[in-house]
Amino acid sequence: MQPMKAGRFSYREMAPFGIRVDFDLRQPLGPEEEKALPELLFRHGVMVFENQDLSDVRQREIMATIGRVSSGYNGFSMLDPDGELGRTRITFHSDYAFTEKPMTALSLFAVDVSQGETCTNFASGVRAYDQMPQALKEKIAGRQSRAVLPKDQGLVSLYEPFPEGMPSIVRDIVVDHPVTGEKIVYIHQLQCTGVEGLSKEDGQALAEEVFAEIYRPENIYSHAWKNGDLVIWDNMSMQHGRPALGPNVKKRSLRRIGVCEKELLELCPEFARDDAVVAQLSRGKIVATMEGGASHIAAG
Ligand SMILES: [Fe+2]
Repeated sequence: MQPMKAGRFSYREMAPFGIRVDFDLRQPLGPEEEKALPELLFRHGVMVFENQDLSDVRQREIMATIGRVSSGYNGFSMLDPDGELGRTRITFHSDYAFTEKPMTALSLFAVDVSQGETCTNFASGVRAYDQMPQALKEKIAGRQSRAVLPKDQGLVSLYEPFPEGMPSIVRDIVVDHPVTGEKIVYIHQLQCTGVEGLSKEDGQALAEEVFAEIYRPENIYSHAWKNGDLVIWDNMSMQHGRPALGPNVKKRSLRRIGVCEKELLELCPEFARDDAVVAQLSRGKIVATMEGGASHIAAG
């Protein structure tokens, strides 16, 4: 199949979603590429650029075509030299889903990874909604759920005690994409604590029914990292997570740059006080410990 073109971008669709773009991002983007990048991102959800050589500054410039680049908590997502930190699984989530303004988009650039040994997985909330049975759409119509910032990135929050003192928000289970208007089923294994107006058990059962649709293998794109990969994703339509890191993963240094309308401290003013979580965040420690997740709070 012939690649498609958008400005000087040449791209092919991946399975089951997303696109692989052939373009050396060291080159300046012209007006056509600057327009095409966010359009393609919101249409396809995930964009992969391989064999890139990107400075921190250049990665920020690329992300600025999508929106306001976050000034806080961008950084590296990595293992410590002894491999003791950040090896656990990170369950599927959307960054800042526990706030009124989840992040718009995220990028990770593979600076130094154990080639092909570690991945980030993406699940599409748009496809999941499109493809779920009509009866389930009707069951979740008008329903709301609560999303929370969990204390651990590997949890399924439905089955955990509510983490007191952490920010949370109630919103519709099905939301409209802020740019495309598409319907997104927007609940996440890491962050969803239950369904409003239902008993704990009934809420768990309904959320599990929805999760079964979202996390079907055919609704997941798994990106195995190679040095020089840049992956950009739509944080509303796509959930991200990763399995625990196996013994062959010696290195996992991914540079994270995100786009958001508001910074975490604006969204969660309770954290502006001398909070231990934020104190750690601002020193970058959570970026190191949370890993692939410099996107959870801080990472991806
Ligand atoms: Fe994340």
